[in-house]
Amino acid sequence: MALSLGVNLDHIATVRQARRTVEPDPVQAVILAELAGADGITAHLREDRRHMQDRDILLLKQTVRTHFNLEMAVTEPMVALALEVKPDYVTLVPENRQEVTTEGGLDVAGQFERVEKAVSTLQGAGIPVSLFIDPDQKQIMASARMSARFIELHTGTYAEAKTEGDRNKQLYLLEAATEEALKREIRVNAGHGLNYWNVYAVAQIPGMEELNIGHSIIARAVYVGLERAVREMKQAMYGQV
Ligand code: PXP
Repeated sequence: MALSLGVNLDHIATVRQARRTVEPDPVQAVILAELAGADGITAHLREDRRHMQDRDILLLKQTVRTHFNLEMAVTEPMVALALEVKPDYVTLVPENRQEVTTEGGLDVAGQFERVEKAVSTLQGAGIPVSLFIDPDQKQIMASARMSARFIELHTGTYAEAKTEGDRNKQLYLLEAATEEALKREIRVNAGHGLNYWNVYAVAQIPGMEELNIGHSIIARAVYVGLERAVREMKQAMYGQV
């Protein structure tokens, strides 16, 4: 199966919310991203609504022709919203109001009951769940025990590695975690901090299914346009640049 690219459109909404106006509209961006080869569209509806708004999520669901991944915190209001919107899948992430972006994976092992309840409610309603976790054996075992359909491995530590040695160590952890999850029949995605330079090594991990990438694509799109930025990311994933 070919590796997919999920394009996260949050930061189009960040630019709009800087002026609390109507442009640029992440919903309009769906068409360009999909034309350029996006295999999926992702949006994170944060509790503080700092970028995506409820209206965006409803319209994204109606507009996306590939698949729509809703990222959200493990809270009852968010689970209720997901049951109403019915995205193609939900990714559960940790959320801390003070953070600039998601910091680290969800502690699925430490908050087992709370996360399991959300997973069983969503999957019971036909919405597959992906758990955003660190590449850690304990978190994979807990994800398997609650029968999550997917995990998304947090690649932030890999992306921030300052030396080649550390980068290789982080890559090894991602590879080992992917293998471990696949053995337990959990499908594996990855994301956070991936860019045009560091994506190829992660894209090479056997069995990896989808990479969710936002900031680097939207940052490049400011200069070269969204279609070109998405197309170039797919080329980077396949080592064609
Ligand atoms: N995956 C998850 C679970 C995330 O929370 C984010 C950031 O919203 C991403 C992927 C995309 O990260 P980035 O914007 O650094 O590409």
